[in-house]
Amino acid sequence: MNSLKEILINKKICKSVWFMRQAGRYLPEFREIRSQNQDFVNLCLNSELSSKITLQPIERFNLDSAIIFSDILLVPYALNQKVEFLKNHGPKLETFNLEIFLKNDDLKFTEKLKPVYKAIEITRKKLNKEKSLISFIGAPWTLLVYMIGAKQNKNEVDLNIINKKKDEISLVLEKLINYLCLHIENQVRAGADVVQIFDSWAGLIPQEDLNNFCYTPNSKIVEFCRKKGIPVICFPKGIKKKYKDFISLVKPDGINIDYNIDPMWAKENLKDTVIQGGLDPKVLLLPDEQIYSNARKYLDAFKGLPYVFNLGHGMLPETNPDKVDRLIKFYREY
Ligand code: CP3
Repeated sequence: MNSLKEILINKKICKSVWFMRQAGRYLPEFREIRSQNQDFVNLCLNSELSSKITLQPIERFNLDSAIIFSDILLVPYALNQKVEFLKNHGPKLETFNLEIFLKNDDLKFTEKLKPVYKAIEITRKKLNKEKSLISFIGAPWTLLVYMIGAKQNKNEVDLNIINKKKDEISLVLEKLINYLCLHIENQVRAGADVVQIFDSWAGLIPQEDLNNFCYTPNSKIVEFCRKKGIPVICFPKGIKKKYKDFISLVKPDGINIDYNIDPMWAKENLKDTVIQGGLDPKVLLLPDEQIYSNARKYLDAFKGLPYVFNLGHGMLPETNPDKVDRLIKFYREY
């Protein structure tokens, strides 16, 4: 069994490292492919290239796990909502249309995402058996924020839109959960061993809505994974001390802490789950000694516990790959 699964399933204490957004713009070999593929969605749907990009950081750094190169927004794309990635603008989605959304069905959804599953098959064949292949989904709330155009800027969502349409939103969330479970099942059938759920905008949910928009949808998906025997890691970014409630309510196999969570607090408060990540990706922009001392804070805190080394959010595009290489060496020698 590979190290990530050993840690998640058997709570074995062993070394395992991978990074969120390990395949991406900080790698010159990715930028090379990207420069010849202007349309990001099409790039994600090119199974051969997607597999090649997935393996780039494995070849360069010999990481313990690969995460399939895709995007959380391929789910709205597969649900017939046009998705574009504009240069320096982030994602742009066509205006949400409930009627179109409700006309979707499982078969058509799976058909549109076949290239992703094919990329997983190709990658699993090429990837060393000792290494895990991680699949992922965006959590229902995080997808909804993009789908209904509620995302205003980096740190805000338009709660007016949300409050005006609460019934419609409950319906959309419910349907999304089903499609997301199907997407997980399809990815695992194609060869993925673990799934990570990215709830990147969980921190923007008002306290009184956390149950409806965060804990319950994540729970339903985690419950589905448990029934199917799929190890699952959750990442409810930005919910601060509510990470504790999240763990007791959702009970995932693993939890990725974000860079605002104090590792000592996490050790005391997030029991009965495997902790992953935490290191601020901005730390990788500092001189080496500061990178090591920051990494040491996490490694010291989780000594003697099952812990997966990773970041507290995705790798920044301005990261120097040589620093990533040295951080991995530091971790392996620690
Ligand atoms: O982690 C990996 O290496 C696997 C691939 C992966 C991508 N996106 C590729 C990507 C994963 C796991 C994601 C998840 C994702 N996508 C999230 C959740 C994680 C997080 O960062 O909070 C979110 C919110 C998205 C939506 C998204 N996709 C945004 C906001 C953007 C544009 C802005 C940005 O940060 O780049 C993307 C584009 C995207 N997805 C890129 C990559 C490598 C950059 C594309 C480019 O070359 O322009």
